[in-house]
Amino acid sequence: MSALTSLARMWLTRSVKPFVFTDDCDEALDYGGIGDLGLYVHIPFCRSICSFCPYCKRLYDPELMDRYIDALIEEIRLVGDMRGSGSMRLQADGGVSGPCGGSDPCGGSGPCGGSGPCGGSRMPAGSLYFGGGSPALAADRLGEITAELGKHFDIRGGIGVELHPEDVNARTLDLLEEAGVDRVSIGIQSFQDKYIDILGRRGCDPEAIAGELSGRSFKTVSMDLIFALPGQAEDDICRDVDTAFASGANHAAIYPFIDFDFTPGNIPAMGRKEKRRLLSAICAHARAKGLRRDSIWTFSSEEDARYSSMTRDDYLGFGCSAVTLLPKSFKINTFDVESYIERVSQGRLASSLTIRFTERQRMVYWLFWRMYGMSFEASDFRVFFGKELEKEYGLEFWTAEKLGFVRRDGSRWQLTDDGAFWYHHFENYYTLSYIDRMWGLMKEEAFPKKMVLG
Ligand SMILES: C[S@@+](CC[C@H](N)C(=O)[O-])C[C@H]1O[C@@H](n2cnc3c(N)ncnc32)[C@H](O)[C@@H]1O
Ligand code: SF4
Repeated sequence: MSALTSLARMWLTRSVKPFVFTDDCDEALDYGGIGDLGLYVHIPFCRSICSFCPYCKRLYDPELMDRYIDALIEEIRLVGDMRGSGSMRLQADGGVSGPCGGSDPCGGSGPCGGSGPCGGSRMPAGSLYFGGGSPALAADRLGEITAELGKHFDIRGGIGVELHPEDVNARTLDLLEEAGVDRVSIGIQSFQDKYIDILGRRGCDPEAIAGELSGRSFKTVSMDLIFALPGQAEDDICRDVDTAFASGANHAAIYPFIDFDFTPGNIPAMGRKEKRRLLSAICAHARAKGLRRDSIWTFSSEEDARYSSMTRDDYLGFGCSAVTLLPKSFKINTFDVESYIERVSQGRLASSLTIRFTERQRMVYWLFWRMYGMSFEASDFRVFFGKELEKEYGLEFWTAEKLGFVRRDGSRWQLTDDGAFWYHHFENYYTLSYIDRMWGLMKEEAFPKKMVLG
């Protein structure tokens, strides 16, 4: 654990208390009062396994996949039935923010308990994302999963699915459109053979991908690219960005390569200075092409193009390794497919580790993801916590402004290019200090007793 990460955590959470995750998991989830809930479903199967990939996945087995999806539908039923009343959040004006946002007529049976306007008995959900693994391997059952979710949640913000380039074919795309999918994210990594070879993957033909995507109804076509691979030059990554947008993308996620300790791959990580040069080149290139940077890692060519399962304040996760983030807790499901199926078949949640946040820890988590989005309204902090950002973190924002990492635009805080670089750098530390350790442990043990992240 890096001393820097620990010091930053102690300073920002105003406590020496580390992040403590235990197997003391809830048997019920109280999410009834949440206004803007996200939904995430994890499908942990792939046709082949990439040695650099940290995500929860295993080799595709049709029989196991079928049993897994049956369990997934059961988990959705379980969670859907345990909504609870939730704790309504106090707004700045002293009013109460209900989940419907006040826009629907109410039958009195909604999550507000009948006292406010709401959409009836289904809980509004802002978005649904399927990730993996390769969720398109379950394309013929996605409709069943969304139908079960639709019984409990009113999904308003569209449905996104991660695709492997091999999934970009007429049959799979037809099935996705039929299931109501309107956003896809394709894991290209690189269009160039030399980098695809380093990653140990098969390359893809951008013209064939463009042909398959043409005439489809997807609002967002995002493509994942990886930069900071050995020997990668500025021209290489900028050419990949151009090829992505010329092949049907209106959004791109450009990830820095991260060498996770627990993955078997041994691709060397690039040094900080070289990475910074590449990142500056990507940002300058994107700006010159008129692309909008909508988060630390993503760029889009159209206002409505977006793809993000992690940036909601609260979300429910279903399936192996899926995270559920609520106002006071974070829980992560087991990584082990058989253990997941067994737990759910007993009518129990498949939670593996849970942390009950202190208020300060939750504030830091909230700020981390808001800054990931490049800008946010200070008033959103007040709505979420019922406290003023300036009072809680005034000194930090004042210092960051003086250092040129953030600037104030009216009531909005905006990350500058320098701030975005340092965020990128910090994110790398955070990933290696926290995610690497947590996922590494969870790959080893289905239900660990405890994990302390200092
Ligand atoms: C779950 S995977 C993508 C979907 C699909 N299975 C595929 O591989 O095309 C999500 C994305 O994470 C990124 N990723 C995976 N391992 C990474 C690593 N070690 N460093 C940086 N990005 C990584 C890749 O860009 C990948 O497309
Ligand atoms: S990168 Fe994609 S295809 Fe490769 S192992 Fe990870 S999830 Fe599977």
